[in-house]
Amino acid sequence: MGVTLRRITEDDLEMVMNWRMSESVTKYMNTNPKLTLEGQKKWLAAHNDDKTVRDWLILVDSVPAGVINLADLRLSEGTTSWGYYIGEDSLRSLKLAISLEMSLYDYCFDILGLEEVHGQIFKLNEGVWKLHVACGCEVVDEVEGEVEKEGVKYDVVHTSITREKWLKLRESKKYDKINFDCFNDPIGGMKVHHLGIAVSKMDDSIKTYEGLGWVIEGSITDDEVRNVRIAFLKHGITGEMIELISPNGEDSPVTETLKSMKNVATPYHICYEVRDFDKAIEILKGRRFVLTDGAKPAPAIDGRRVAFMLHRNAGLIELLEEK
Ligand code: NI
Repeated sequence: MGVTLRRITEDDLEMVMNWRMSESVTKYMNTNPKLTLEGQKKWLAAHNDDKTVRDWLILVDSVPAGVINLADLRLSEGTTSWGYYIGEDSLRSLKLAISLEMSLYDYCFDILGLEEVHGQIFKLNEGVWKLHVACGCEVVDEVEGEVEKEGVKYDVVHTSITREKWLKLRESKKYDKINFDCFNDPIGGMKVHHLGIAVSKMDDSIKTYEGLGWVIEGSITDDEVRNVRIAFLKHGITGEMIELISPNGEDSPVTETLKSMKNVATPYHICYEVRDFDKAIEILKGRRFVLTDGAKPAPAIDGRRVAFMLHRNAGLIELLEEK
């Protein structure tokens, strides 16, 4: 079972709306809404602008399965609530529920740096709140008849887990880790800035790339910090950027790479622009990316800070601090 999460787009709204109005989902929800596609579009636009909520579509082996969300997210106070539902009945499983819940705690405590995560569940939805307890939550309150829906009152169980508790517990837990990175986060918000290509002869490579529709941006820069020459080229129609890097002396970082390629030009790194530069480095270190070249200014990109990190499975990446 491969579980991934992604942002909800307008194309998903009809499916999400049908899930949310289905009997198997609404019976455990605070409301039985009558939704429209127009209303859903407004909901999505409002949520995309709202820093206190985050929603993801859950995919199981690439098949849309349900929705997981954070609500009432208060980064400064270190708290949030969360919830989820699986709309595709055939994809519900205990294994999925455990992976979602435990990975969400990793995300909330490791990436968002929260202190406490809350849940509110109908008492009759016993499987779910008991799973919360099995995952390390405490039941902090139980309110009789807290939610009234179509004339029926429902008891609500309130659960809570703290960072301290989860960090102690998780070593003993087995779960498939799901990536919750979000466009608002240091890692999920990384945008590709350029592809770096190691070349032996700068002038010849520029000419060859110009023949492929690329246009040189500015002039060739000598980077004396790293002993390389650098030229940026932009695609004339689509606007992507590449960076050609040639050695300037024997001990440049691309010398070995080119030697191993018998001097044939070769992709060398992907550069990501990142808003929270230092935090991104810290998180990637935790994921076994090794810092090979620390945060130094790059003369070819207006002196903005860049860092290079290497991972056995990803190769070399470059991080560039956003303007
Ligand atoms: Ni680069």
